[in-house]
Amino acid sequence: MGLNQISKIVILTGAGISAESGIQTFRDKGGLWEKYSLEEVATPQGFRKNPRFVHEFYNQRRRDLFKVKPNPAHYALARLEQEFPGEVLLVTQNVDDLHERAGSRNLLHMHGELLKVRCEACNVILKEEGEIFPETKCPKCGRQGTLRPHVVWFGEMPFYLDEIYKALKECDLFVAIGTSGTVYPAAGFVMIARECGAWCVELNLEPSTVADYFHEHHYGPASEVVPVWVDKILKRETN
Ligand code: APR
Repeated sequence: MGLNQISKIVILTGAGISAESGIQTFRDKGGLWEKYSLEEVATPQGFRKNPRFVHEFYNQRRRDLFKVKPNPAHYALARLEQEFPGEVLLVTQNVDDLHERAGSRNLLHMHGELLKVRCEACNVILKEEGEIFPETKCPKCGRQGTLRPHVVWFGEMPFYLDEIYKALKECDLFVAIGTSGTVYPAAGFVMIARECGAWCVELNLEPSTVADYFHEHHYGPASEVVPVWVDKILKRETN
């Protein structure tokens, strides 16, 4: 596909884009799901069983976020959004805020955000940079024990799906970066975009489980591969 014909780009990012910033991925060797039980810290059942433990897990992840910073891959995507003459929608599975800190604005956090909590009683969504405990009261309705991390757990519906599916159907170029392709519905986005005519590109350290659905692949660390790819799009070179 000639790059000059592209006017709408959808980019999906996963944990791999933040790996070089120092945030552990989930499924790589030594990843988060080797150290923690996914059922205990990333399901509604786990939270109901032991809210204190789950809050502490997210409190720690929130604290860790202040020790890291965006890497060249995050900055390259922000530059793409600013300089590309068409539309760029960034859909991230990451709950960190490194895309925002790098300058991305047209961004959907489909799996939620570490720096937000929500009240299960009054549904208010609040910014949260500190710690939450089962005793913490909701600042809006005043009830105790009703706040939870504003992240999407296994068995829960991701956010913004209508908006994302619409963009996938309309885009000319779909790019997945740093995601293993194991968690649906995000892993299936490439199939939808491809079926609707988009050119599909995978940028990852290694082939993902859905690699065969992409037309084009570039493997290597995101901090190297993503800036090179962004330069290519902005210079509108042909493949
Ligand atoms: N550069 C590029 N890719 C990398 C890098 C790097 N430096 N390091 C690791 N990767 C790749 C890995 O090869 C792997 O394919 O990033 C991918 C990370 O995969 P996962 O750990 O499975 O993360 P992700 O795909 O984002 O997980 C999806 O699963 O547990 C849930 O909700 C969580 O949003 C998360 C979802």
